[in-house]
Amino acid sequence: MTTEAGTPFESRGPLPHARALQPARVPAEPTQRLERLHAYFLEGCPDDVRPALDGVLERARGVREGCGHTDVGDDLASAWYAAAALIELAAALELDEADVRGAAAAVAEACALPLSAARYILYGQAAGHPRLLELPPLLAAEIQLTLLLGLDVLSEVSLWQKTAHGLDCILSLGGDSEPSRRVRAEAKAVLRGRSRLSLLGSSQLRSAAVPRFSQPYAAVVGKAGAVDAKVADAFLAEAAAALSPVVEREHLLEHSSARERTLVAASERRLMRLGFDLHDGPIQDVLALAADVRLLQQQVYPFVLEDHREQAYGRFDDLTARLVDLDRHLREVAHSLETKSVLSRPLGEILHREVDNFAERTGVSGSLEIRGDPDSLSSAQRITVFRAIQEALANVREHSGATSVEVRLRARRSAIDVQIVDDGTGFEVERALAKAAQRGRLGLVGMAERVRMLGGTFDVESSPGGPTTLKFTLPRWEPLVS
Ligand SMILES: Nc1ncnc2c1ncn2[C@@H]1O[C@H](COP(=O)(O)OP(=O)(O)O)[C@@H](O)[C@H]1O
Ligand SMILES: [Mg+2]
Repeated sequence: MTTEAGTPFESRGPLPHARALQPARVPAEPTQRLERLHAYFLEGCPDDVRPALDGVLERARGVREGCGHTDVGDDLASAWYAAAALIELAAALELDEADVRGAAAAVAEACALPLSAARYILYGQAAGHPRLLELPPLLAAEIQLTLLLGLDVLSEVSLWQKTAHGLDCILSLGGDSEPSRRVRAEAKAVLRGRSRLSLLGSSQLRSAAVPRFSQPYAAVVGKAGAVDAKVADAFLAEAAAALSPVVEREHLLEHSSARERTLVAASERRLMRLGFDLHDGPIQDVLALAADVRLLQQQVYPFVLEDHREQAYGRFDDLTARLVDLDRHLREVAHSLETKSVLSRPLGEILHREVDNFAERTGVSGSLEIRGDPDSLSSAQRITVFRAIQEALANVREHSGATSVEVRLRARRSAIDVQIVDDGTGFEVERALAKAAQRGRLGLVGMAERVRMLGGTFDVESSPGGPTTLKFTLPRWEPLVS
């Protein structure tokens, strides 16, 4: 949602129902406020977020029905709607502080509330919205804190956490520079449960502890904005309560990510072993074979009649060239099994090389499109993306008869989407998977398993006649402290 800075509310024009909502007048059609608020949010909202806002409207209508379709119900549903809409916009990374300000003004007007009350209600509903728990924890925490800035409760805010080596600033919003030493000292005091500056009513610095099992686990520290210290404290208490489940979720994810890393590492070790075996076994055999062929060439030379020598030489050269080719391919495979090469180079470069090599080797035209920054992925995600694309390309080569394949990777902030589409013969997915499993072929099944290990979803769409589309999505979350 883009609005002009400073006057977000006016930039959309006054709410169409502004006059009807004068407290002195009874609105002609009380149940229309919600719809008008929806119209206000839709204005200037990107097309791809509209369906989410329509969904929010549907649920808000349910809230209104639940309240008995009364005037008050319409007010409550309006506040509910505005909070949920803000979170949807934030999840789509389309929210800025001006939007938050505009939303508070819209709720105040729609529900004929003083702005201060509208802000507090909106904050409580938005910061505690369950949808936030579906987002990466760091993004959820950032949204919760951005709301405090947008509502002018704080002018600067930061989130802190204890680590093995001291104190980490996880997020810092609103300030021009790094948080000051005073802010750090305040965070430290909060995390130690000691008395702090913010307890002095007059201090501009305010803070709250985010609890986990009743112990301070993180600290929010901020500078009071256009409100007085007590109001800022009330908001911060609300913020700390809302941050608690987000922090808890991050804690769980961090633990399961440690487990995932171990699993990914185990399967990578198996692949690396395979690479070594390939190197020590077949590659050495090919070298020995090539030497034997050359030796044989010399040994048979005296026995070949003069007239046939050129032809015989040609045949030997041909054999040697094929062995050199085989050696090169085996080395390429061994190299691509190495995890080190996947992690030490930019993912975009490695994928380009993989797709180009594939095209060169198979004659199937291949294209790669990358959107976003794939190098911000974690190691486990990078390896999974790379291996899955490798396996999908192997399937295109072995089974599809395709003339072209397209690989698309989109690194969004909340997820990574990958699609591999080939224009080949296609197949009956259920049957092929059942048969492959019986034969112990674990290409697609293994790929799905790797994706599932990282909490992602995996899907193959195909039918006889083609095309075949393989898709997977990995949720993106970064632990608060990595
Ligand atoms: N891109 C594709 N086009 C056509 N058929 C495919 C494709 N990918 C997979 N298949 C079918 O699915 C089966 C299972 O694939 P996979 O699990 O990778 O095992 P494998 O490749 O070892 O047979 C394949 O044997 C093939 O019949
Ligand atoms: Mg396969």
